[in-house]
Amino acid sequence: MRVLSGIQTTGNLHLGNYLGAIKNWVKMQDEAECLYFLADLHAITVHNDPAELRRNTREMAAALIAAGIDPERSTLFNQAQVPAHAELAWLLNGTARIGWMNRMTQFKEKSGKNREAASVGLYVYPVLMAADILLYQATHVPVGDDQRQHLELTRDIAVKFNADFGREVFTMPQPYFGATATRVMSLRDGSAKMSKSDPSDMSRINLSDDSDSVAQKVRKAKTDPEPLPDTVEALEARPEARNLVNIYASLSDQTLEQVLGQYAGQGFGQFKPALADLLVETLRPITARFNELRGEGAELDAILQRGAEKARALAQPTLDAAYQALGLVHATSRAT
Ligand code: AMP
Ligand code: TRP
Repeated sequence: MRVLSGIQTTGNLHLGNYLGAIKNWVKMQDEAECLYFLADLHAITVHNDPAELRRNTREMAAALIAAGIDPERSTLFNQAQVPAHAELAWLLNGTARIGWMNRMTQFKEKSGKNREAASVGLYVYPVLMAADILLYQATHVPVGDDQRQHLELTRDIAVKFNADFGREVFTMPQPYFGATATRVMSLRDGSAKMSKSDPSDMSRINLSDDSDSVAQKVRKAKTDPEPLPDTVEALEARPEARNLVNIYASLSDQTLEQVLGQYAGQGFGQFKPALADLLVETLRPITARFNELRGEGAELDAILQRGAEKARALAQPTLDAAYQALGLVHATSRAT
């Protein structure tokens, strides 16, 4: 079992990232060999200020370590330090089909109305993601629900490449959705994903928020006037209520039923303070460690360098095998 996942370096981590992805990443360190990386090459598919990108890469490393990723146990690195990602992505561009790419819903969402003006990188983003995964023969890829389609594409690319060239160059990866919340919604709109690109900061809880703002955001979260129901079905038509119950459940490692068992019949006047307390309690140590680490730029750079060295060595055999399968004459003895 080899676990791999990545996160874009486009700003701070929020509760959706934490509950949808990072919390699983941390847990999986006890069960498998893990590689986690900062997807800085993915980040440049939209315009980024270079200085900000560099700062975000360090901050994201700090946030992951603060959340519990242990660079001694896991390989933690940024993509740009491992050229094999970009190289394999190019090789896989020969296998990925335009028809497959045209089905990607994330591209449709991210490119919006002005698709002609979107970068080519944004369009082939999922091929780079496939390269990230296949390069390390990853077996399990913990991601949020929104990445399901990209995982399917990765498998399609791996199947076609192996079949076209008659060798098992790539291992078939499986998505891994943990028991925790796979989709955390905005605190202002239960039908929109909690996202770092939402213009309203009140819509999300950032891992860098202090306790007061966490409590305030929960207090102001959109809800409805009804008390909490005693069945999960009764939450279906109440997206905001469902979201808050879901957040509580995943923070406390309980099911929705268990949370409702405790809070059914109570209004948000009671539930929200309980949720705020639980959030503050969970996030306080993470935020404190994050604030400490983000000032240690040199140490973070050293951690990422060590991680990248390990990653380069792990990636090389697969990259070589892909070049060979394609019949490309390549530099076999590159320094790792
Ligand atoms: P991103 O910030 O889009 O690069 O996402 C990083 C990771 O967090 C991915 O595994 C996403 O699926 C996950 N993620 C992002 N937003 C949410 C959300 N609102 N709920 C659950 N998971 C999320
Ligand atoms: N596309 C992922 C996201 O937006 C980030 C990502 C890039 C990733 N490469 C990956 C996740 C490889 C898992 C595996 O969340």
